[in-house]
Amino acid sequence: MTPAVTGTESTLPRIILTSFVLLSFLRSGNAAGITSTFIRSEYPSVDIPLNNKVFAVPKGYNAPQQLHITQGDYDGKAVIISWVTANEPGDSKVQYGTSAKKYEFSAKGVVTNYTFYQYKSGYIHHCLVEGLEYDTKYYYKIGNGDSSREFWFTTPPKIDPNSHYTFGIIGDLGQTFNSLSTLEHYMKSSGQAVLFVGDLSYADRYQYNEVGLRWDTWARFIEQSTAYQPWMWSAGNHEIDYMPYMGEVTPFKNYLHRYATPHLASNSSNPLWYAIRRASAHIIVLSSYSPFVKYTPQWRWLAEELKRVDREKTPWLIVLMHVPLYNSNDVHYMEGESMRAVFERWFIQYKVDVVFAGHVHAYERSYRISNIRYNVTSGYQYPIPDKSAPVYITVGDGGNQEGLAGRFRNPQPDYSAFREASYGHSTLELINRTHALYHWNRNDDGKKTAMDAFILDNQYWSANHRRRKLKKHNVRKTMDEIAMY
Ligand SMILES: [Fe+2]
Repeated sequence: MTPAVTGTESTLPRIILTSFVLLSFLRSGNAAGITSTFIRSEYPSVDIPLNNKVFAVPKGYNAPQQLHITQGDYDGKAVIISWVTANEPGDSKVQYGTSAKKYEFSAKGVVTNYTFYQYKSGYIHHCLVEGLEYDTKYYYKIGNGDSSREFWFTTPPKIDPNSHYTFGIIGDLGQTFNSLSTLEHYMKSSGQAVLFVGDLSYADRYQYNEVGLRWDTWARFIEQSTAYQPWMWSAGNHEIDYMPYMGEVTPFKNYLHRYATPHLASNSSNPLWYAIRRASAHIIVLSSYSPFVKYTPQWRWLAEELKRVDREKTPWLIVLMHVPLYNSNDVHYMEGESMRAVFERWFIQYKVDVVFAGHVHAYERSYRISNIRYNVTSGYQYPIPDKSAPVYITVGDGGNQEGLAGRFRNPQPDYSAFREASYGHSTLELINRTHALYHWNRNDDGKKTAMDAFILDNQYWSANHRRRKLKKHNVRKTMDEIAMY
């Protein structure tokens, strides 16, 4: 096991070394997997008290709060800006422009609210801001007078195979002090947008008493990041909120009122599954808790969306879901098997680069493996190395109140490359069309530790013989670029 390294600057030589070691593991697919022996010192896995400053309500009557933005179209030239006003609906207008304090444009949104058992939500606003320029910093203002608030965000570079872009990947975040540590560590990274793999607030742990409140506190807690960069949402089991004993039988009611997605832009009929293209990536978001078997809307949509992927324009094909298809933890073991049986074949056929999931409160990374030979009667029950397969990464380690999933199954399956039960987040830096730099960053005791890092080969541009020359050139270039950091 690579020893822990502390601090971003001093990690560089180690990362490069680790990258090469893990790179060779990733390619050969048959090195022994690692179960980390790291034991983290447990913080209590309880939610931060309601009166903590991380949940503070902004000053001013009816001041906009819980600001969060997400991509608003297929190609990254729009954002959906969402917020809540507590006292009255107020204005759904966003003023924006390319210089601070000068707002030459405005857009009008919509407002909604809902009840959940005895909880009554605030007024939830969603405003689509479209027609933006690529690679541009925009300033925006919400609200009026003393209660108004100002923020900014930067649009991504244009869709281009060599657009350089860094995503953060966070899952199962919750609102404990571990969650805060994960968020703070992520915000110190170079991440430009977050791919969130489900289980947001864990507000559903509060039933009858304080029901619903933790949706509001969570959104105020993450505003420090979500007001300034887009988070792409996917839903987990803690978003289902199916509570018939409380008279609440509409699944995803809280989540869908609060977190918009640009599903219509990718021809999806449901905000729970959709796709976006951003910089050099095509990102597909699936719903583990919506029907996905053959002929269902999600199945039909994915079949069509995969045909729309153009690796010449967006070399990186990334899939997000909540429940991992490969998981060797005792917790949630085999829960992804039904979706694996339906979708794995397509992931191989379309050469998906990486599948990110959450759900299991630990970190795990697979080799490139598949189990599509198995068909109940074939007798091939074990996954095998498969160069066309994605890498499966579970990042359900945001730090929520349920604590860690500390029991991995023994022995470690051959397909499992690295696993550790502690908290953290990942970053995926798309360097060019052939290579990306991946990190999993453990956070523990207030320090940031890069623990699992490697160079990810692009599945499309690395697999084709015609492109070998370009690949060789880009490996050298990639290493030069990494050395410059
Ligand atoms: Fe979950």
